[in-house]
Amino acid sequence: MHCWRESGCAGLAEQPQVISGQVDSVQLNFFTTVTLLCSLSAVHAGSHDFKPIQALPQYAQECAACHVAYPPALLSADSWQRIVTGLSQHYGVDASLDAAQIDTIGRWLASEAGAYKKVQTSPPEDRISRSDWFVRKHRRVDPEIWRLASVKSPAQCTACHIQADQGRFDEHDLRTPAGMKKGFR
Ligand code: HEC
Ligand code: HEC
Repeated sequence: MHCWRESGCAGLAEQPQVISGQVDSVQLNFFTTVTLLCSLSAVHAGSHDFKPIQALPQYAQECAACHVAYPPALLSADSWQRIVTGLSQHYGVDASLDAAQIDTIGRWLASEAGAYKKVQTSPPEDRISRSDWFVRKHRRVDPEIWRLASVKSPAQCTACHIQADQGRFDEHDLRTPAGMKKGFR
C-alpha cells in the first residue's frame, strides 16, 4: 500500500522537535514497532493506553501506511464497520483492500472497538478527531497548530503524541511540532 501523496506518509518525518530527547519512533517501520510493542503493551497499563494486547498484523500493515494505526478502542464498532466498507472513498483517497482483507480487519476492529460511553455516539465522518472527547481534550490547541506543515491535521496524532503508534496518548508523551511555540497550552 503506497501513500496518497509524496509527503503524506513521510509527512510526519519533517522532524518535529522532540522534547527531552525521546526517540523519534515515527521513523521506525510501523510493522516492527507494532510487533515489538505487542509484547510490551500489557506492561504499560496507563489510563491512556489504547493498544489491544495483540494488534492484528494486517491492520498494522494496511491501515498504518498513511497515518498511525488508530487504536480500535477510539471508535465504536459501527464506525469501524462504515470505515472498512467504504475504503474506496476513504477521506478523499482510495484505500481499497480485497474482500478477504476487509473481512479479517473488519472482524478484528469490531472485536476491539470501544464499547464505553465516550465512543458510543459515532463522531461526524467517523473521525476520532471529531469526537466530543477529542475536541475537549484538545481545546487548548490553537486551531492554527493543526495546519502547520509539521502537523497537517488533527488526524496525524503522531505529530504530537510521540507514542501514538503504540496506542499511547499520555499527556506526558508529547512533543512540540516544528513551528509551534512552546507553552501553547
Ligand atoms: C492510502 C492512504 C490511506 C490508507 C491505506 C488508510 N487510510 Fe485512513 N485516512 C487516510 C486519510 C488521507 C485520512 C484523512 C486524514 C486527515 O484528515 O488528515 C484518513 C483518515 C482515517 C480515519 C479518521 C481519522 C480522524 O480521526 O480524523 C480513520 C479512523 C481511518 N483513516 C482508518 C483507516 C483504516 C481502518 C485503514 C485500513 C483499513 C486506513 N485508514 C487506511 C488515508 C489512508
Ligand atoms: C498538534 C498536536 C496534537 C495532535 C496532532 C494530536 N494531539 Fe492529542 N493532545 C495534544 C495535547 C497538547 C494534549 C494535552 C492537552 C492538554 O493537556 O490541554 C493532548 C491530549 C490528548 C489526550 C488526553 C491525554 C491525557 O493524558 O489526558 C488524548 C487521549 C489524545 N490527545 C489523543 C489524540 C489522538 C487519538 C490524536 C490523533 C487522532 C491526537 N491526540 C492528535 C496534542 C495533539
